[in-house]
Amino acid sequence: MRNTSFLPALLIILPLAATASGETIYEKHCAQCHSKGDVNVPQIGSVEQWKFRSGYGPKSLLYSVKNGHNIMPSHGDVLKDEDMSAAIDYIVSKSGGWAKK
Ligand code: HEC
Repeated sequence: MRNTSFLPALLIILPLAATASGETIYEKHCAQCHSKGDVNVPQIGSVEQWKFRSGYGPKSLLYSVKNGHNIMPSHGDVLKDEDMSAAIDYIVSKSGGWAKK
């Protein structure tokens, strides 16, 4: 059965592909604010700035991104829910992860 040798490689590539899409969406739609170093915008990679926000949970954060939150504009007209959620997951994963309940 030499044809099964690709399976371990596939198991490594598939999860990477899943996280890449959140990163791609982030780079296109979110990085201009969340990576630019502005003190008024919670920056990706800052555990301090994302700890309490991740505590609101994925649904609440999706609502903010979809409908806008203070000076963050709404994204619901240009992005699908799952794309916004993927980008949120990407930010949180780079910023200390989801807060433990
Ligand atoms: C025009 C600048 C801008 C863009 C573009 C932007 N954000 Fe934001 N975002 C902000 C600012 C500013 C805040 C902080 C709002 C506050 O807490 O007052 C914020 C807050 C957030 C929050 C926390 C919301 C909450 O309820 O506390 C999340 C999650 C988030 N952004 C994700 C994203 C994602 C995902 C994208 C891309 C799809 C994105 N942002 C694009 C400026 C931006």
